[in-house]
Amino acid sequence: MRPKVYVTRRIPHLGLELVSEYCDIVLHEGETSPSRAELIRNVGDKDALLCLLTDSITAEVMDAGPRLKVISTYSTGFEHLDVPAATARGIYLGHTPDVLTEATADLTFALLLAAARNIIQADRFLRSGEWNIPWSPTLFLGELVWGSALGLVGFGRIGKAVALRAQGFNMKVLYHDIRRLSPDEEREYSAHYRTLEELLRESDFVSLHTPLTPQTRHLMNEERLGLMKGKAFLINASRGPVVDEVALAKALREGWIAGAALDVFEREPVGKDNPLLGLENVVLLPHIASATTETRSKMAEMAAANLLAALKGQRPPHLLNPEVEKIRTLSEIRMI
Ligand code: DGY
Repeated sequence: MRPKVYVTRRIPHLGLELVSEYCDIVLHEGETSPSRAELIRNVGDKDALLCLLTDSITAEVMDAGPRLKVISTYSTGFEHLDVPAATARGIYLGHTPDVLTEATADLTFALLLAAARNIIQADRFLRSGEWNIPWSPTLFLGELVWGSALGLVGFGRIGKAVALRAQGFNMKVLYHDIRRLSPDEEREYSAHYRTLEELLRESDFVSLHTPLTPQTRHLMNEERLGLMKGKAFLINASRGPVVDEVALAKALREGWIAGAALDVFEREPVGKDNPLLGLENVVLLPHIASATTETRSKMAEMAAANLLAALKGQRPPHLLNPEVEKIRTLSEIRMI
């Protein structure tokens, strides 16, 4: 019998094609995630679930799908998955790291440059017809990126990829992570370890690259924003809740820091009442760090590979919960 798979949103074609070679797919069409009720109804008879970061996959959802063997998320981040609940139920979890590292690092740099050089404000100014003096000595003065200090909070794959780009701008790279690199690795990335407080005090640009965990939620709160230099910028392309947005809006309004550039928010999409919307010194993007055609296609391929591997009784290439094998072996879930 062919496995039954519920896919919560249309992902790039290749991913769906790979899965449909071996499985029967029920695809939730539309631009938004299925409602909770729809999700629960649809997993009822499914062997596998391919979901997005916008789907909250709780124990309740898993219990509604007693045949579920694998849940594969089309994302690197996995804070929307209840990992312990899946493990306890013998459900294998896959995600898509690596393939979006370069796209995310590129966008981090775009945010950084846009913030430092007022790119967005200058574009808006020109389009609105306000550019009526040929050249001005003081128009949109920003900050030099070349030779400045970049503080990377979180030094995993993406943090490191940003550090490599920073070398091209002759930046001094500081990093903070729960794990300090070996001296060899520090040399490879020309990166200098700092405590979080030291990093915040010394950096001209602070860029966040941590996953969202209970420990990193509101990591950038009022107190830590207060440690940053007055001319510094905060960049966030990780997860919105790592920053306390109310505190950030206050810091930007009161000039504690020069500016910020964000690709992620506490609530997505942002509400009309988001205090950041009314501020000029912040660049705001709609969570597009991994949005290149190639990256999204590779993510789809990887999400499909994780799902199919489990159903073939093979270890998914990017298994999130390896301890699940002690609860249910791969040969027990094999269907193809
Ligand atoms: C992820 O995969 O976690 C990104 O935030 C979206 O691509």
